[in-house]
Amino acid sequence: MCESVKILEPSLLASDPGRLAEQMARAARGGAAMWHLDVMDGHFVPNLSFGPHICAGLLKHTSLPIDVHLMVEKPSRFIDPFLHAGASSVILHVEVRDSEPIPQMLREIKEAGATPAVSLRPQTPLEMLEPYLPLVGRVLLMSVEPGYGGQTFLPGSLERARALRAMIDRVSPGIQLQMDGGVTLDNAGSILEAGVDILIAGSAVFDAPDIEARCEEFSLLLGR
Ligand code: DX5
Ligand code: ZN
Repeated sequence: MCESVKILEPSLLASDPGRLAEQMARAARGGAAMWHLDVMDGHFVPNLSFGPHICAGLLKHTSLPIDVHLMVEKPSRFIDPFLHAGASSVILHVEVRDSEPIPQMLREIKEAGATPAVSLRPQTPLEMLEPYLPLVGRVLLMSVEPGYGGQTFLPGSLERARALRAMIDRVSPGIQLQMDGGVTLDNAGSILEAGVDILIAGSAVFDAPDIEARCEEFSLLLGR
C-alpha cells in the first residue's frame, strides 16, 4: 500500500486580516499546500468569521485550494455559495440538526467536483462518523472546541486519531484524516504518528516571527 501524502494546511483565522495575501504568499513559499477557511455563524459556534465573498476574493491571490470548514447551524444554506466561490472542499459537522440532510449535502459537494468531508467536535463519539465514511474524501477531527483559534490541543485527541484511523482503514481506506486545533511544531510529530495526514495550524503558523520559516519547519516534519 502506498504511503499517503502528508501536508500542511494553514488556518487563515489566525492571519492578520490587513496582510492576508502577503502572509499567504509567505506560507505558500514555506510549503503550505492548502488553505483552511473557518466559517462561523455565531450560532453553531459563538464566533463570526469568513463568508463566500472572502473565499472568492482570496482565490484571486493564490493558486492553492481552499478548504472550507463550515461551523454553522444551517450548512445547507452555504454549500452552494461556497462552491460558486471556488471552494475545493467543504467540511460539514456531524452535530448539525437532523433537519440538515448530511448525506444529500455530501453528494451535492461531490457532484460539483469538490471534496466532501465531515468533522466532529472533541466530545462527539467517533461512531457518529461511520455512516458518512463511504461518502467523504476526508475526515476532520477537532482537537479543540470549535469557535476560536489559539486554544490548547486537547490531550485525548491523539487517542481519538488512532481509533479513527483504524476505523477509516477498516471501512473506507484512502480517506484523508485532518487534525484541527492547537497543532504546533511540538505536537505535530505525535499527531502524524497517530495516523493524521493533514495538519491544520493557525496560530502556530501566523503568530510565528517568520511565517515562511515556520512553514518550512512543518514541511520538514511532514517529510516534504
Ligand atoms: C477552530 C478552528 C480552527 C482554528 C485553528 O474553531 O476550526 O481551524 O483556526 O487555530 P489554531 O491552530 O490556532 O488552534
Ligand atoms: Zn477549522
